[in-house]
Amino acid sequence: SQLYDYIIVGSGLFGSVFAHEMTKVGKKCLVIEKREHPGGNIYTEKVNGINVHKYGAHIFHTNDEDVWDYINQFASFNNYVNSPIAIYKNELYNLPFNMNTFSKLWGVKTPQEAKEVINQQIEASGIKEPRNLEEQAISMVGTDIYEKLIKGYTKKQWGRDPVDLPSFIIKRLPLRFTYDNNYFNDKYQGIPEGGYSKIIDKLLENVEVKLNTDFLDNKESYERMAAKIVYTGPIDELFGYHYGKLEYRGLRFETTLQNIENYQGCAVVNYTEESVPYTRIIEHKHFEFTKTEQTIITKEFPSEWKLGDERYYPVNDEQNQELYNKYRKMAKSNEKYILGGRLAEYKYYDMHVVIRSALNSVRKELEFE
Ligand code: FDA
Repeated sequence: SQLYDYIIVGSGLFGSVFAHEMTKVGKKCLVIEKREHPGGNIYTEKVNGINVHKYGAHIFHTNDEDVWDYINQFASFNNYVNSPIAIYKNELYNLPFNMNTFSKLWGVKTPQEAKEVINQQIEASGIKEPRNLEEQAISMVGTDIYEKLIKGYTKKQWGRDPVDLPSFIIKRLPLRFTYDNNYFNDKYQGIPEGGYSKIIDKLLENVEVKLNTDFLDNKESYERMAAKIVYTGPIDELFGYHYGKLEYRGLRFETTLQNIENYQGCAVVNYTEESVPYTRIIEHKHFEFTKTEQTIITKEFPSEWKLGDERYYPVNDEQNQELYNKYRKMAKSNEKYILGGRLAEYKYYDMHVVIRSALNSVRKELEFE
């Protein structure tokens, strides 16, 4: 008979929630993680008293009351509200685009005045059917916001001129006609006190975990050891890139310790002009209102992705989506496997959605018993 009910490949949020729930109902689980630490991309590490978000800034936000209750079992969340700012040519603007932004741009005071300026610019552009990302953006927010706050940032983010990018990348550009700098519209928002790694440690408290272990190195023998495999790694890698590689956009982080208490007065500052090579500077201590004499900042440089690099943003264009669908079909034909999470499903997945998805997948499994 088999040693495990489930072998779970990957200790990210999906794998950890799945393993936790199954262990709770008496299933024997083994989590295999190829990195030297658990947690996948939400992993945080304490450095000089500051929790550093090692794979990019993570802010928890959700409208899903069940998911909020669920995650609060494993951490207590602070009242951090994400209010990033943008810097363009030494001028500072509030995000998301709201009355503070409009007032700074045009000196307007009322929503009516702001709408007038924006509508005039949209009309003057004469764009009826946007053919690319640039036209799409201008037709939604006008030329000033596009030129100062979107154009350079997008060009850096995707490594291509917005006129050469498809319009579907930007479906919506919310404009907010109130003086409200809260980036998210969700009912619940915050950062887990003590960092995200604490959540993962609690989820995996009673679960057997093997770090520094690549599932694909011993795939067949693991398959013999377990009734089912929950795979949260890259779907194309699982099948030996049979149809080719799924593309991603990369990110390079440059993290430094600064000998001052407060570097930028805000956790997230976007640099929207093209000539600054990074897109954002994250100052980690502000996520948790940490009081230390020094500070740690991370500059984010978008980069070309190649095999072997960390996968950050999936490039969900038609070509890649088609490729993904082929892999998906292959995966569906093998009943031993359950695929879940951002890499196996090839999509950008916020944390609350991943939790919901893992819980659904647990429920579906237990239904069939
Ligand atoms: P994740 O990638 O975390 O885990 C997969 C794990 O599998 C990894 O640990 C990997 O090492 C392991 N693995 C892969 N192949 C393996 C193999 N062959 N053998 C063993 N192990 C293997 N969300 C949000 O709600 N708010 C936010 O602010 C942000 N911010 C953010 C910034 C950036 C830059 C990105 C890219 C993403 C976000 N997110 C986010 C999304 C968030 O990161 C995401 O929801 C979770 O990390 C997804 O967890 P998964 O378990 O799906 O994947």
